[in-house]
Amino acid sequence: MRRITIALLALTALLSGCYRGQPTEKPPIHIISDMDEQPKFEAQDYTTFFPNEAVMRVPPAGTLAREWLRGDSAFYTGLDPTTLQPIVQAPVNVTLSGLEQGQGRFNIFCAPCHGRTGDGQGIVAQRGYIPPPTFHSDVMRGYSDGHLFQVITNGIRTMPGYAQQIPVVDRWRIVTYVRALQRSQRASRQDVPEDALRRLQRK
Ligand code: HEC
Repeated sequence: MRRITIALLALTALLSGCYRGQPTEKPPIHIISDMDEQPKFEAQDYTTFFPNEAVMRVPPAGTLAREWLRGDSAFYTGLDPTTLQPIVQAPVNVTLSGLEQGQGRFNIFCAPCHGRTGDGQGIVAQRGYIPPPTFHSDVMRGYSDGHLFQVITNGIRTMPGYAQQIPVVDRWRIVTYVRALQRSQRASRQDVPEDALRRLQRK
């Protein structure tokens, strides 16, 4: 009987030692460590191996992250690389599919405030946001494409920037679409193709 009691007590002690969830200061028992523990450095670590005692290495001068070669600075900034003034014309070919892409992006990102026609009467403006100016004033029409690109990229005064949401090429497509909107609001008879004019006159 005594032996059984001792054995039971020993077993209880043993099992309680393995009780999961019990707080302990000691590192967990790790019988098969797989590759959990490796001799390696982690980001921001300290080392005596390198003279500056930092584990992280400074990339050699001129190193660029993949796909970050931005040699065509006018395309990426909207500024002339020598004068640093906004470029007059968007550095993209204006095609119908490009304009349609610009229209889609404009209707998603700009129309909520500026309205689908660019009159500044978007739903957000109607509900109390600072009303944006119409795109159809002489001042707006006089802006260079580079200026519009800069506004989309960096924002201006009370308008937030959209560089994070809109890729560079789409920003240019939006610019060309804004130009199309501006033309559409001040089109003359000469802007309507002959066959379309005939169709309109028949109605
Ligand atoms: C959150 C609302 C909002 C959105 C979205 C928005 N804008 Fe604006 N935008 C404004 C406001 C407000 C102003 C007036 C800024 C000021 O003068 O304080 C403005 C001004 C402008 C101007 C005039 C800049 C100048 O030099 O006076 C342009 C051009 C413009 N926006 C283009 C765009 C385009 C293109 C988009 C889409 C990519 C866009 N905005 C998205 C609110 C918005």
